[in-house]
Amino acid sequence: MSTVYQATASAPVNIAVIKYWGKRDTKLILPTNSSLSVTLDQDHLRSTTTSRADPSFVKDTLWLNGKEDEIKPGGRLATCITELKRLRQATVENEDPTAPKLSTYKVHIASYNNFPTAAGLASSASGFAALVASLAQLYALPVSPSTLSIIARQGSGSACRSLYGGFVAWQEGVHPDGSDSLAIQVAPQSHWPNIHALICVVSDDKKGTSSTSGMQLTVDTSPLLQHRIKAVVPQRMKDISKAILEKDFDTFARITMADSNQFHAVALDTEPPIFYMNDVSRAIIAVVVEYNRLSLANGQGYKAAYTYDAGPNAVIYAEEKNIKEIIQLVVSFFPQREGAFKDNLGVFPPGAEVNAQA
Ligand code: ADP
Ligand code: DP6
Ligand code: CO
Repeated sequence: MSTVYQATASAPVNIAVIKYWGKRDTKLILPTNSSLSVTLDQDHLRSTTTSRADPSFVKDTLWLNGKEDEIKPGGRLATCITELKRLRQATVENEDPTAPKLSTYKVHIASYNNFPTAAGLASSASGFAALVASLAQLYALPVSPSTLSIIARQGSGSACRSLYGGFVAWQEGVHPDGSDSLAIQVAPQSHWPNIHALICVVSDDKKGTSSTSGMQLTVDTSPLLQHRIKAVVPQRMKDISKAILEKDFDTFARITMADSNQFHAVALDTEPPIFYMNDVSRAIIAVVVEYNRLSLANGQGYKAAYTYDAGPNAVIYAEEKNIKEIIQLVVSFFPQREGAFKDNLGVFPPGAEVNAQA
């Protein structure tokens, strides 16, 4: 029997608190601004990808959730696969002439997301991170997470951050070749373990405008984006990094909500305008704002921070001690959605993850 060359890897999504929205180089996926996210650590939002190399395969093929997804020549999937094959050849095969020439075999890749794909829950982030990790494992590549971050970035920008856990910054970089545009860990999750992320699935429909095309339209038409990338994001990156290192939830919450608002404002400032949030999204914002107002009035500071990616689904960051109360609050306003709220960050006793209970 011939040897089977196969590897499986899984990666979680990350949800940005300083949003990436805009490319200065669309081919290499170099961003117009740095960004910062939290990688979720529970199992609700993950991509799991298995890659297999075999001399009998006739073409590189990807199945996403059981359906074949075209690998376009020169496209993002092809770029990642080609680069990983090149590294296999340049390292393992070059150093050991007896190593199997996996770089010359076609690959079959099967990936599953355990949550809605292309619905604004960062499936491209976990998807490309898992794809790159699985091929790197298949090829036994002796490379650092930084190298994998650079490759994943060329699949989907946000994917470069999912190679790390905890609080992660994607530094925009200055080199035109993208060699310094990669993610670094600002702090591991263990640094601030009582920060939780409540995922509120408002809709699992595929979004109308993909992140890729939406952000390009914004770059081409929005004057507000220019102000954002020059005058706003650099200071926010510094301030939120400091807030994370100091476990200052008030500052973390203020900046997170302000940045989500500004991202959706630049989407609206795009020609034609892009709307990612819907009425339920806006109602959740109103609930969080009121909840914080009461808490601030009681001298207790901010208790919750909402953020929305390119879709209507809310992510609420909060300290563990307040999570149950927030779930009760959200579910009381949207009882028909009971079960659609999951706490996705933080360490729980096994099987004791907090699901929405009215
Ligand atoms: P999202 O908000 O879910 O990230 P995007 O518009 O950024 O939505 O990207 C969605 C696209 O990402 C999908 O249409 C698909 O091409 C790609 N993608 C999603 N999941 C995976 C995966 N597991 N493996 C490979 N590619 C994926
Ligand atoms: C709103 O990384 O999905 O989620 O690089 O074109 O694949 P491409 O876009 P993508 O954009 C993510 C946008 C965002 C904000 C963020 O994750 O930082
Ligand atoms: Co995406």
